[in-house]
Amino acid sequence: MKEKLQKIRERAIAEIESAGGLDRLSEVRSAILGKKGELTAVLKGMKDVPPEDRPKVGQWVNETREAIEGILAEQTKRLEAQALRIRYEAEKIDVTMPSVTPAKGNLHPITQVRNQLIDIFASMGFEIFEGSEIETDYYNFTALNTPQDHPARDMQDTFYLSKEFLLRTQTSAGQIHVMEAKKPPIKIISPGKVFRSDDDATHSPMFSQMEGLVVDKGITLCDLKGMLDEFVKRIFGEQVTTRLRPSYFPFTEPSVEVDVSCFQCGGKGCKLCKGTGWIEVLGAGVVNNRVLAGCGVDTDVYSGFAFGIGIERIAMLKYGINNIKLLFESDLRVLNQIDD
Ligand code: PHE
Repeated sequence: MKEKLQKIRERAIAEIESAGGLDRLSEVRSAILGKKGELTAVLKGMKDVPPEDRPKVGQWVNETREAIEGILAEQTKRLEAQALRIRYEAEKIDVTMPSVTPAKGNLHPITQVRNQLIDIFASMGFEIFEGSEIETDYYNFTALNTPQDHPARDMQDTFYLSKEFLLRTQTSAGQIHVMEAKKPPIKIISPGKVFRSDDDATHSPMFSQMEGLVVDKGITLCDLKGMLDEFVKRIFGEQVTTRLRPSYFPFTEPSVEVDVSCFQCGGKGCKLCKGTGWIEVLGAGVVNNRVLAGCGVDTDVYSGFAFGIGIERIAMLKYGINNIKLLFESDLRVLNQIDD
């Protein structure tokens, strides 16, 4: 019996020591110590051992078991450490490798310019009015001193939804809503989308404007000019000045086109300003008394100025974009370049 146990022990130790992995080790363990294991079989056979020999044999079996378990525990530890080493090796990170920079998004150029305009005008005390894209003929034209058959209606090719409703062609429609809702003093800007049946390199059927309206006592063209001077310096640069040219809008009198001195060549003449030294940026004027009176504003007491800025136009000028379509095509090669 003693020999038998000795054999089991030697073989077990040899198998344990040659086990190359934890899986193999657990196989070896159950082959010896498991329910159907070799040593377990010996224990089961104790009933055949004469009673007087049992204590001794029992002791041998126990010694054998303890010895095998001791070796098993050591080998388990060794193999676990080895598995961990292999895992560490496989998961090793080279901290000196350059990292992958996550792609950074930026706001759309039109949103960037709109936000810049809002910041500038908000700092001058303007409030924001949000108009609606669907308007009635009355607000978009008639109340702005442009009744049916007025020749100025031809200035803007309109998308009519019905006889009464249309897609607004100008944010100026908001002027009327504001003056109907609020008594002067009024000082608002109103950014938003406008629509005209117009389509070429510098015109799109949908584009964005920002309207401005100031109504108070004693407002004159000088106030408009002073405000515009400050505005163009903030948006295009300190050295930029303005020039007013006579123009015509039915809802302002006098009406002006506002030019800025070319911020690219400084006024000497270049491709951007087509050699003139000046770039047209917006339309404006002193609010026509007929418009004020139509909204119930007392024109003996109050006067006002209004302006309308094309947001895409400002974006194109600022960022050197020569085709308005580039602003609507969502081409990341273009959009990624503009992060102001
Ligand atoms: N609404 C005019 C346009 O779209 C611009 C404008 C606004 C002119 C306010 C004068 C005053 O062309």
